[in-house]
Amino acid sequence: MLNKKSVKDADVKGKRILVRVDFNVPLDGSTVTDDTRIRAALPTIRYLVDHGGRVVLISHLGRPQGGVFEKEFSLAPVQRSLERLIGRDVKLLEGNLENESTVRDAIDAMSDGEIVMLENIRFYPEEKANDLAFARQLASLGDLYVNDAFGAAHRAHASTAGVAEYLPAYAGLLLAREVDTLVAMLRDAPTPFVGILGGSKVSDKFGVIERLIDVVDTLLIGGGMAFTFLAAQGHGIGKSLVEVDWIEPAKEMLAKAHEKDCNLILPIDIVVADAFAEDANTRIVGIDEIPDDMMGLDIGPATCELFKGEIAQARTIYWNGPMGVFEMDAFAAGTESVARAVAHNNAATSVIGGGDSVAALKKFGLEDQVTFVSTGGGASMRLVEGKPLPGVEALLDA
Ligand code: 3PG
Repeated sequence: MLNKKSVKDADVKGKRILVRVDFNVPLDGSTVTDDTRIRAALPTIRYLVDHGGRVVLISHLGRPQGGVFEKEFSLAPVQRSLERLIGRDVKLLEGNLENESTVRDAIDAMSDGEIVMLENIRFYPEEKANDLAFARQLASLGDLYVNDAFGAAHRAHASTAGVAEYLPAYAGLLLAREVDTLVAMLRDAPTPFVGILGGSKVSDKFGVIERLIDVVDTLLIGGGMAFTFLAAQGHGIGKSLVEVDWIEPAKEMLAKAHEKDCNLILPIDIVVADAFAEDANTRIVGIDEIPDDMMGLDIGPATCELFKGEIAQARTIYWNGPMGVFEMDAFAAGTESVARAVAHNNAATSVIGGGDSVAALKKFGLEDQVTFVSTGGGASMRLVEGKPLPGVEALLDA
């Protein structure tokens, strides 16, 4: 369990509460195309409003250059979306924090239960630098700080970590649920525990692979990263993605899995293509038949069957990363088959580790059929790796 004070431990009535949320959502022009992260923050916001808090929301959106206002990174579309979802006014404070009187005056004039939102905190270069003078200035706008931005908890920025040096700092309900779910999964998951990893690079997920080998019974590896493992086993991989520098570490991981009695399973057949394109010529080949001039872009049907069989027996499932280039229909079958197998195993607790696997679940309309979908890609990976999250560490101990 999260060993930090919860927002429910705080006396919030009449207080100005700085609430860091992760409203880094996808936009199409000025429309939010996926409001999952906004919905996920509603319980904390509602709790604070219902208990008479004065809620000052802080979020980043995208990666603006910092130092100037850039309209495409404005939180205005998010503010409109939040107003609709929560059914209340949410005022976007457009004033500049450096010349802060308009922002401060607006916050000081708030009534209990009111909600305002600061503009994208990454418009200030001091945010990412975790500048303590800036964090102190931010802190002076509130009486309490609540971090509900699980998706940004792996960042040691002014609004995720620095500000907690100057205000009593509490965990929001979403952040607590995320940490509790992932930690419980790693500690005492019912077995068989099946991990499923995909995505393009071994280098991005090496720490996760290493940790999962310690905790899971079976580890299924697909996606682009599988080819570095296949190369480590001596298979020819044609023009498939490979990280040459990671072949040796991949060999070590295979040896470690063997030593720890973790059943690490790699693809046995592959969908190969003559180009990285939806209309490429494709073939299904066995793992020792990848032509020199073709690249693997999805796991093959025999691998899908093998993976489905393992997933069906699981009582705990952790899935992070697609099995192929699922954004192109020609290479989506492997990811779809894994997504369906995870969703159909009603006996298992299934935890989806954010990022592309969530996008895949949504593409196939299965996001409501799993136990838990993390709102944090990088943050959930870091937690699974067993590394501390600065946004969590900074909070008051329980
Ligand atoms: C995310 O989308 O993973 C979080 O909001 C963090 O965003 P960042 O990678 O730009 O820090």
